Amino acid sequence: MLKKFGVSSIRLGHSPMDKFVVRGGNPLLGTVRISGAKNAALPAMAAALLTDEPVILENIPQVRDIETERKLLSAIGAEVELGYGRAQHRTTICCRDLVNPEASYELVKTMRASTLVLGPLVARMGDARVSLPGGCAIGARPINLHLKGLEKLGAKITQEHGYVHASAKRLKGARVVFERITVTGTEDLLMAATLAEGETILENCAREPEVVDLAALLNKMGAQIEGAGSHMIRIRGVDKLHGARHRIIPDRVEAGTFVVAGALTGGDLTVANCDPRHLDALLQKLEECGVKVRTNGESVRVVGNGALKSADMVTEEYPGFPTDMQAQYMALATQADGSSVITENIFENRFMHALELVRMGANVKIEGSRAVVRGRTSLSGAAVQASDLRASASLVLAALVADGETIIDRVYHIDRGYEHIEEKLRGVGAQIRRIGELLPRRVATPAVAS
Ligand code: EPZ
Repeated sequence: MLKKFGVSSIRLGHSPMDKFVVRGGNPLLGTVRISGAKNAALPAMAAALLTDEPVILENIPQVRDIETERKLLSAIGAEVELGYGRAQHRTTICCRDLVNPEASYELVKTMRASTLVLGPLVARMGDARVSLPGGCAIGARPINLHLKGLEKLGAKITQEHGYVHASAKRLKGARVVFERITVTGTEDLLMAATLAEGETILENCAREPEVVDLAALLNKMGAQIEGAGSHMIRIRGVDKLHGARHRIIPDRVEAGTFVVAGALTGGDLTVANCDPRHLDALLQKLEECGVKVRTNGESVRVVGNGALKSADMVTEEYPGFPTDMQAQYMALATQADGSSVITENIFENRFMHALELVRMGANVKIEGSRAVVRGRTSLSGAAVQASDLRASASLVLAALVADGETIIDRVYHIDRGYEHIEEKLRGVGAQIRRIGELLPRRVATPAVAS
């Protein structure tokens, strides 16, 4: 178990056995500051593979997935400095001598986003071997659209022993139409096309803010990209990219999670250091539920006045309601008066949090891609288990309003994408603490008596 978590968690001071103990009942009051977006930082770090010059990224969140990405890039041959102190959560990545264009199964199985090195490695080195990610808690999550796109750009793709091997003397620009909208598929192809010969048109692209942020970094590196944030992106290939410095956008899912926490606990919470424009669909839905929300340039103030109204919700690609906020919304819906029908359109198995919420007293019925939540039901503290990153967040939210104490197991899931969440919650009045089995300290073996 410990091996599986390796340096990543220990460097963060976490152990794989950590649990959260949460006592419900406190309204969240005050201000919480949001960290940089994990899902923007991961492609940005992979983009450094496209140049032999240093890339400096600021506002990097201190989460497990970033540690995993650091290990992956180092294994490929990159020099990665990663500092969270006064260094403003900054990483400097220099990919001058890439020796091993491979993302191993060991790393990919802990983080699917490792596949984001595929496009950059083929573009920069003409060769890449990436383990197929395999299944994941929330769905099959194949990468067939990434591979079809790279083939369109002229890459030769073979699959054997659970690995994808992609190679190309030099990628050639082409028109690529995604059969369905894919966030990391768009990002992978966007990065590959920057060094392709000629022009590439990507159609039916993801419009997420993280895609726009990646394009902004790539253009700072000398790429020629137009249209990021729309369904069609045009890339004129260049021969070489240079280093750059870039500040990662705030994490809209972390921000949304805290906004829901403020509403759910009937608090008065200011969520600072975020970009409210990235939260439109969520804020609109919360207002439909009767939540008072006020925004200014970089913060959202949420005032929960207790009475929540039920509202149906459907997850869609951005700018629709984000699937990464579906589990958190379900926790809120358990406290709303009436029935809320939640439809999950993006992933085929993203309701596992529902079973744990039911154990806490929620009334949720799953019917295929729909979950019918009947509120308001009072929740009682219980021992529950996290199953994936956002499901864990949903259990924390439920525990904040449950009667009594909740113990949440396997919080390593939440450590993947939320920086010091228990400290941030305690800072605005929540009763939450992390308990863990102390890692076996390396006991010095007594010197053998000579
Ligand atoms: C990104 O995953 C995010 N991860 C996910 O966040 C997020 O839930 C997801 O986008 C949807 O918004 C990162 O950005 C690192 P997709 P991604 O490709 O790119 C299917 C979190 O909690 N598909 O947009 O892997 C796929 O199965 C994580 O931070 C194919 O069929 O998601 C899914 O049903 C979880 N073939 C749908 O498309 C492909 O080649 C959307 O997936 C690719 C995707």
